Amino acid sequence: MIELYGVKKSFDDQIVLRDIGLTIPKGRTTVVVGQSGCGKSVLLRVILRLTSLDDGKIIINGMDTSEYSEHEMMSIRRKVGMLFQGSALFDSMTVWENVAYPLLENGNVPIDEIDKRVLELLDFTEMGDAVDKLPGALSGGMKKRVALARALVANPDFIFYDEPTTGLDPITASKINTLIRNTQEKYGATSVVVTHDMVSALTVGDLFAFLDAGIIAFVGEQNEFLNNDVAQLQKFLKKAAPDKYVEKFAK
Ligand SMILES: Nc1ncnc2c1ncn2[C@@H]1O[C@H](COP(=O)(O)OP(=O)(O)OP(=O)(O)O)[C@@H](O)[C@H]1O
Ligand SMILES: [Mg+2]
Repeated sequence: MIELYGVKKSFDDQIVLRDIGLTIPKGRTTVVVGQSGCGKSVLLRVILRLTSLDDGKIIINGMDTSEYSEHEMMSIRRKVGMLFQGSALFDSMTVWENVAYPLLENGNVPIDEIDKRVLELLDFTEMGDAVDKLPGALSGGMKKRVALARALVANPDFIFYDEPTTGLDPITASKINTLIRNTQEKYGATSVVVTHDMVSALTVGDLFAFLDAGIIAFVGEQNEFLNNDVAQLQKFLKKAAPDKYVEKFAK
């Protein structure tokens, strides 16, 4: 479980996270939605302290990490698999090397075990045929599937997905959504999906949080989310969600 209390983050005089309170429950998928630029990626980065925290508490598995040193945060980051917004694969490494990287870096895992695990995950994400390819030879959706395999390789307790479907065609996006759901079912990890793709949000989410003007302006289950009385969220949904989806999911 991850708990955030009064989390604040500004860049110079731009306040991005004003006062974030949010509980991310264990074993479920929490979706954070909000306008482009509202601070979704910053929120994930602050939790992992890839971006520094100005104020507030971030409690992960009961441990208050707010004052953790860089060294202590390294052990937290090992528990989290992150699918970055742009996939962030290493261009000079093959698919196999990219996926193996977290285990190779760990230094304690025998190479045949690493190989077995990498191939298992590439099989799971249907990228088994691309083990020796370089990222430059892959499409956007293929890169995301490799990045997902890498995020899962070290058996993380938590998986953070930053815009897992952005820039993909609807069919590829739907494949990624299915993978996120299957990952949840197969590995039981606690997941956070940050997205402005409402079809993806409604397909993968158990719990929904709306980030607006630096606060979590709404949090609830799908039905409450679609039938909420928060004016800003209603406005956001009207703009972002295809009506037929809202109808289908609101039932
Ligand atoms: N390192 C940084 N330095 C300065 N400003 C930053 C930095 N990182 C993010 N910002 C600013 O913080 C705000 C929130 O950015 P963020 O990337 O979190 O938005 P987002 O909600 O993820 O948007 P999108 O949906 O487009 O990915 C933006 O105005 C951005 O310019
Ligand atoms: Mg972002």
